[in-house]
Amino acid sequence: MIISISPITTKEFELFKNLIYDYAGISLAAEKKVMVASRLAKRLTYFGLTEYGQYFHLAISANYPDEFQMMVNILTTNETYFFREPKHFEFFRDNILKSWRGDKFRVWSAASSTGEEAYTLAMVMAENLGMRKWEVFGSDLSTKVLNSATNGVYLMDRLEQMDPRLLNKYCLKGVRSQAGFFRVDEKLRDRASFSQVNLMKPLPKTIGTFDVIFLRNVLIYFDQATKKHVVERIASALKPGGYFFISHSESLHRVTDCLEMIKPSIFIKR
Ligand SMILES: C[S@@+](CC[C@H](N)C(=O)[O-])C[C@H]1O[C@@H](n2cnc3c(N)ncnc32)[C@H](O)[C@@H]1O
Repeated sequence: MIISISPITTKEFELFKNLIYDYAGISLAAEKKVMVASRLAKRLTYFGLTEYGQYFHLAISANYPDEFQMMVNILTTNETYFFREPKHFEFFRDNILKSWRGDKFRVWSAASSTGEEAYTLAMVMAENLGMRKWEVFGSDLSTKVLNSATNGVYLMDRLEQMDPRLLNKYCLKGVRSQAGFFRVDEKLRDRASFSQVNLMKPLPKTIGTFDVIFLRNVLIYFDQATKKHVVERIASALKPGGYFFISHSESLHRVTDCLEMIKPSIFIKR
């Protein structure tokens, strides 16, 4: 039987909008109403519901404990790719890694999505720090993308910016049923870990401190007040003198005094 779903009303959209703002800090503009409706439609179909309001109440009810996270996974936007904004990785290599002397180098990809940013950092570290002690931590709000990141399996056609030499050195091409995919090699996966961190909540006590933090392409979803709280919280886990990267399309103008811009989109902790 085909169930027809009623169009989302403005009131229903507001329910999701307020919830995702309170929980994740994500500001959904009014024009995202259609996107929200189309992304959630499959969940309404799955539960045999005809109205978005019904789904909202189901997703926040204690009777369906997993559905809230499912809804969050659906409402986050996870676009990412290897070597995105390649100038950042050149700076990372030439101005940070080449002169690094220390015990253990730690990098945090703080809205890692499916892991391409974290594994890009891992490749650059493997190339430049070799067998020295280093690790990359990736975190996100969406459990779906974190599972993908942990598996480290990607479609071959997502590789536009990757140097074929690095692909051969650090990735295993799938064969037979895995043809068209590649898996990041174990020697990088062993140095990477992923877990859920909501940037809106106090950081886990065990997170430690980092030499470098990438917080790219997530601030665009936050309003000014949220940006300030998030950036100050994340920067508290950065070592003094550590580096903080945002996307070239984002800005920290009037956001915090604790980070000093040394190049557009690259900051150092005072
Ligand atoms: C567009 S992706 C950016 C991925 C990568 N950093 C890059 O630049 O390619 C944005 C990610 O931020 C995550 N995100 C949004 N709000 C978040 C929050 N409050 N806490 C943690 N992650 C969040 C989303 O789930 C999504 O995977």
